[in-house]
Amino acid sequence: MFHLNVTTMRSLYLAAALFVLTSCRTESAPPKSAQPQGTSASPSPRHVRVIWTEDPSAHAIISWTTMAETRQNIVRYDTVSRGDGQRAYAMSAPAVRNGTATLRAEDLKEGVPAGWYHHAEITGLRPATKVYVAVESDGELTDERWFITAPNDDRPITLLSGGDSRMGGPQPRYAGRTPHVDRQNMNKRMAQLLAENPDIIALAHGADWGTTADWRHLFWWFEDNELLRTEDGRILPFIVARGNHDEGVGFNEHFWLGDITDELSYGYYFTTNLGSQLSLITLNTEISVAGDQSEWLEEQLQELRPAKRWIMAQYHRPAYPAVKEFTALEFARVRETWSPLFDKYGLDLALESDGHALKRTVPIRNFKPAKDGVVYIGEGGLGVPQRVPDSARWFLKSPGMTASAHHVWIVSVDSAQLRARAIGIDGVVLDDYSRAPRL
Ligand SMILES: [Fe+2]
Ligand SMILES: [Fe+2]
Repeated sequence: MFHLNVTTMRSLYLAAALFVLTSCRTESAPPKSAQPQGTSASPSPRHVRVIWTEDPSAHAIISWTTMAETRQNIVRYDTVSRGDGQRAYAMSAPAVRNGTATLRAEDLKEGVPAGWYHHAEITGLRPATKVYVAVESDGELTDERWFITAPNDDRPITLLSGGDSRMGGPQPRYAGRTPHVDRQNMNKRMAQLLAENPDIIALAHGADWGTTADWRHLFWWFEDNELLRTEDGRILPFIVARGNHDEGVGFNEHFWLGDITDELSYGYYFTTNLGSQLSLITLNTEISVAGDQSEWLEEQLQELRPAKRWIMAQYHRPAYPAVKEFTALEFARVRETWSPLFDKYGLDLALESDGHALKRTVPIRNFKPAKDGVVYIGEGGLGVPQRVPDSARWFLKSPGMTASAHHVWIVSVDSAQLRARAIGIDGVVLDDYSRAPRL
């Protein structure tokens, strides 16, 4: 039998202790280069974003962060640029929801700076109009940003659609820390697409925003989102869906949707009207997909189908997954509950996420290929490491497609066609699909 003497035991203990200490240090201290600039207890507002809910032709939520508790939080806005720093904005609205970002033990361990969230609502906007925005907390004003409100007439509409932006760093692949190079590169790609295609009005985000909704993940998400801005300050409003990585109170804190957010974390499903002929229904796969939500969905579809030329739906968990197990409950429940309604009312396009691959299904009706069926695109490529899809699945075979590639979809509609183009991280067109209206 092998026996260890006391000295050998001591050396082993010492080595083990040293290993634990070094590992802990590696675990708990984020790299120095990752520390954000100017985050030490400053009222200076950052992370300015625009959120669209039901009627973005007249309404928007403006959200931001401060790295100190602030008393006076105001969004200042106008339809002409006031970027001269004179604060001559004609309109203003106070933040109506403010609070401290919840910090968990892991947040403290990672060393993320404390943050405070602020949300203001601006109403009575004019459709298809530039809105110039600067936010102010305790006298500190941001640079001016601008966005364009949605139209309310029958002009062509162009949106970006994508999901799964929760990471994208080289190593470790699934840690929450920055730098998430691929996420940053997708944000730069979207900023360039916006600069090249000024008709793009919003980003429909199909969720899994961060690895969790905790502050150590959302903080870096918001930092990286600063890259999604054109050189002249244009930012892209978000239409927000919630995914399986977006559980937790942090999501409610930082993605406040006005009336649509409730304290119990239900909700996060609503219809966004974009122009007079397109409705985008955002659904929530993280609560019951049946019951109230599916009744609501059917009512919406019933009301919209005769009235609108184009109806789309976005939600996180796919009905037709390209990567994960087809028969798994989280997908079967979506497919069995919502797809029959999509079939019945002739949904024009389903925008899915979660799988971490690019896909476009064949048209599907009654769980089978059908010429007049519903096409499902996705499924999550805004920086998260891409997985290898199962291209042998019947719904992905030609004329469908699938690939392992970061991507964002440019979805556009007009009176003659719907077109969806998948754009890769390097700007290459990876898929180009179009079809005529149903009506
Ligand atoms: Fe997911
Ligand atoms: Fe995901």
